[in-house]
Amino acid sequence: MKNKVVLITGANSGVGKATATELARMGATIIMACRNKERGEEALKEVRERSNSKKVELMLCDLASLSDIRCFCEKFEEKYQRLDVLINNAGVILPRRQLTKDGFEMQLGVNHFGHFLLTNLLLNLLTNSSHARIINVSSGAHKVGKIQFEDLGLEKRYNLMKAYSRSKLANILFTYELARRLEGTGVTVNCLHPGAVSTNMGVDRETGFGKLIHKILKGFLQTPLEGAATSIYLATSKEVEGVSGKYFYKQKPIESSKSSHDIDLAKRLWNVSEAVVGLKE
Ligand SMILES: NC(=O)c1ccc[n+]([C@@H]2O[C@H](COP(=O)([O-])OP(=O)(O)OC[C@H]3O[C@@H](n4cnc5c(N)ncnc54)[C@H](OP(=O)(O)O)[C@@H]3O)[C@@H](O)[C@H]2O)c1
Repeated sequence: MKNKVVLITGANSGVGKATATELARMGATIIMACRNKERGEEALKEVRERSNSKKVELMLCDLASLSDIRCFCEKFEEKYQRLDVLINNAGVILPRRQLTKDGFEMQLGVNHFGHFLLTNLLLNLLTNSSHARIINVSSGAHKVGKIQFEDLGLEKRYNLMKAYSRSKLANILFTYELARRLEGTGVTVNCLHPGAVSTNMGVDRETGFGKLIHKILKGFLQTPLEGAATSIYLATSKEVEGVSGKYFYKQKPIESSKSSHDIDLAKRLWNVSEAVVGLKE
């Protein structure tokens, strides 16, 4: 990985931090895209120390803001002439309905729309580099996800699982549609389920909600490093050279849900996403 430039979103915590550490250990140049300066700087120090690498950098990017993502991509392009691996890892799961800066329901806004815009804005850099790889961290929760275009804001009946599962279904629909669009370019895109991992996912920093549950469940969950194994595999393995448009679990391609293969749904989601993030005139 010595000559590779790798960008990881949500790299200050959980699966993202473990992915960043391991890829840095392998010699890659790592850009940790994080939303919070303090948490980002603390994690940067830890990743550099643990990997014994100085080729790790922090760049701030809040995926809940379209203007922030645009600004991030401009700075990224000024600094880096290539991007070999993009890992769309950041994610939120929220018990109460919240909105992004642009007024989207937060889970769809960050987990899907944010990464949709980021990836599209970085596509030139990715296609410049030979055999670039895009990796989208989804979840097995996508299986119960439903996308109802008439209620993208989930204004009527919000619940955590409904919002989370549809955002994770959107990650897979996006992966498969992007793979179709990137055919012949040399750039591949795959997605994955990391398994059940002990991270900060679902922990409410203000109330501490979730911390206790995490403590109780910890023994049954994977460590962040175990949870990062499939992201690392997709970023580095020769076995997946040229493989695109697949869903992985435990470093093997597996079947995703029936609706994730719905091409009309994927195209509609693509068109709607392009419009809402401002990529279509
Ligand atoms: N843990 C599991 O069991 C599990 C299972 C299936 C799938 N996943 C997926 O795995 C991925 C990684 O999650 P994790 O479990 O490692 O959870 P985590 O420890 O909570 O990490 C999530 C990361 O996303 C970042 N993030 C949240 N909102 C953001 C925003 N608006 N802009 C930029 N970054 C933002 C967080 O930043 P802050 O630290 O600043 O909040 C954090 O760095 C997610 O996509 C999740 O859906 C996890």
